Amino acid sequence: MKNKILLLILGAFSSSMLNAKDYLISTPNTSLLISAAPGEKSKFQYYGSRIDESDIQGIYDSGLAFGVESYPVFGLNTPGERAMAVTHSDGNMSLDLVVETVKQYTSDEAEITEIRMKDLVYPFVLKQIYKAYKDTDIISTWVEVENNAKQPITLYRFASAFLPVHRGDNWMSHFHGFWGAEHTLDEEKLTNGQKVISNKDGLVNTESDNPSFMLSMDGRPLEENGNVLGGTLAWSGNYLIKMDVHNTKFNISAGINEETSHYILESKEIFITPEFAMTYSTNGKGGVSRAFHRWARQYKLNQGDVAHDILLNSWEGVYFKVNQDEMNQMIESFSAMGGELFVMDDGWFGNKYPRDRGNSSLGDWEVNKQKLPLGIEGLTASAKKHNIKFGIWIEPEMSNTKSELFEKHPEWILQCKGRSFSTGRGGTQVVLDLTNPQVQNFVFGVIDNLMTKHPDIGYMKWDANCCMLDYGSTYLHKNKQSHLYIEYHKGLNNVLERIRAKYPKLVLQVCAGGGGRVNYGLLPYFNEFWTSDNTDALQRIYLQWGVSSFYPAIAMASHVSADKNHQTGRNIPLKFRFDVAMSGRLGMEIQPKNMSEEDKAFAKRAITAYKQIRPIVQFGDLYRLVSPYDNKGIASLMYVTPEKDKAAFYVYKISHFVNMTIPKVRMNGLDAQKKYRLVDLTAIKKDKPCSLHGKVISGKILMEEGIALHSLLKKEYSSLALELQEVQ
Ligand code: DGJ
Repeated sequence: MKNKILLLILGAFSSSMLNAKDYLISTPNTSLLISAAPGEKSKFQYYGSRIDESDIQGIYDSGLAFGVESYPVFGLNTPGERAMAVTHSDGNMSLDLVVETVKQYTSDEAEITEIRMKDLVYPFVLKQIYKAYKDTDIISTWVEVENNAKQPITLYRFASAFLPVHRGDNWMSHFHGFWGAEHTLDEEKLTNGQKVISNKDGLVNTESDNPSFMLSMDGRPLEENGNVLGGTLAWSGNYLIKMDVHNTKFNISAGINEETSHYILESKEIFITPEFAMTYSTNGKGGVSRAFHRWARQYKLNQGDVAHDILLNSWEGVYFKVNQDEMNQMIESFSAMGGELFVMDDGWFGNKYPRDRGNSSLGDWEVNKQKLPLGIEGLTASAKKHNIKFGIWIEPEMSNTKSELFEKHPEWILQCKGRSFSTGRGGTQVVLDLTNPQVQNFVFGVIDNLMTKHPDIGYMKWDANCCMLDYGSTYLHKNKQSHLYIEYHKGLNNVLERIRAKYPKLVLQVCAGGGGRVNYGLLPYFNEFWTSDNTDALQRIYLQWGVSSFYPAIAMASHVSADKNHQTGRNIPLKFRFDVAMSGRLGMEIQPKNMSEEDKAFAKRAITAYKQIRPIVQFGDLYRLVSPYDNKGIASLMYVTPEKDKAAFYVYKISHFVNMTIPKVRMNGLDAQKKYRLVDLTAIKKDKPCSLHGKVISGKILMEEGIALHSLLKKEYSSLALELQEVQ
């Protein structure tokens, strides 16, 4: 029996080699190889570092070719993981797909390979698409399913991607968390069995996990060495990423989490799975991150090539106690420090039910006349007077049971028929039903009304402080209640498409109770994300380290907040707080009137320094140098321009003991042949920069030997932020 199976496998393998055509899908440094021919199965053969046509035979000859179906489906010869499972209208639960055509064409963004497959018996068509983005090392994949039968079919499983991987000493890096501790990095050796990254929050999907992972092919993952595959699912809803690991075989499937989400596909309807994006690096985790950062800036962030303003957000400064005087004073003080944008957070709206706490008013997006008698006009005028931009907070997908919106439209709330509402924040928060086009219009109207009345608004923070609580929609048909997790996000995307079509330049920040929506499903509509409600500079080093694995600094909002920190109660010097925030998109979240004049003067200098290095941080390549997770007492990272003529370097002392070892730090990404002047960006006393200031050192020494830091990082919470400038 075993021999028979072996013969069958060998037969399938050789027939694909004899008859099928190879389709090589390449980026500058990676390649993916598919073999396909009409009437046969489409086979996944290779994904790794770049190969050329002349290397293809070598992939087969070396035994590297996988020869497994590029999109295995359920029903025939079923053992093992499958990417898709359906039930036809006659109850048959099988699919048997063969290739019909393969097309390769070029779009503005990418080289696209489209494998059209059809079932041998049923009028079921599946297109598998691979998209190799130009000038980046990202290839993405997804499928489009078309039901050409007269009757509906039911989809029970619908992964975006199915990837075989060579089994070896595989380690997985992934991210997990909780409110205030999102994006924490975890790394583990994969053992046999299944490792699953999943999310079932329904609405915010990156507080507890992130739909992203790195997979090292050769042991414990390193920053700049070793082969690492990185993948992320561009989806804002529930997800399921499965590593199916056996002694000799290993595959990854990634897609929408199908649990309680079976989907009825009507005749002629097309179901499109979200994009799964991947890269393959021979330069360790650093290579994966840099590839994703470039892709994000080039293709996935709204206006990813436009530098972001330095902003002050009012939340930790005044919380719900918004009023005209306080806003004016914050605008004026921040402008005097060199700030560029003021964002009024929660607490500005609701009249019948004023928004004084988190328990009312969501949906009643009218300015509170008592708090802000001059209206939003008063605030935009004040910002204009002080020569900074104005932004505003909204949470448009939500309502409270204590709100005029809820009183008027209780049917717009997600609910289970015949049962009372479950509530979130404040004991009253509920979620609007975005599957309903009327609700979509309402949510679009929140932004559209604000922008039409106040075209001077330059920025909006779009918050979402609730998971999907009650699983039920008054809009969806009773047979399609199981579509809610999916249709909600399609509805949200519709609204965001409309907003972007009308307001392409409005800067939008995505936020979900902190870092609950750091995903590539939503990022294309946004310019940046709120990383976490935890603004403690020490914990931010860990948090931002995790985020930096897949998401670029330009999008990572990082704010200097009060001493003592509101989330951890920790006291950290202002310089350290700035040095951490300056490694992302710098902002502040503080009441300036509580700062000393000395602190304000320091903040002004740090803001000026950030403006100088902003292009390096926001558009440069990231090199993570010493990980806070490695318990070396310090953490260090740097950004380098593509021309390697400038860099921004950071080091933080993250633990403090007498006589502790402080390792020297080797830089990376520089040009060994170039010489660089070191500039201390944030010396506490302007005229007393650190001893490295002004020194000119070659890239070779900085990268091969590094800099010694024990005398510079003596005190608790000492840190350095340096600019490196090429000296001709
Ligand atoms: C949660 C966000 O993460 C905070 O920054 C703030 O905007 C509050 N919501 C406001 O309610």
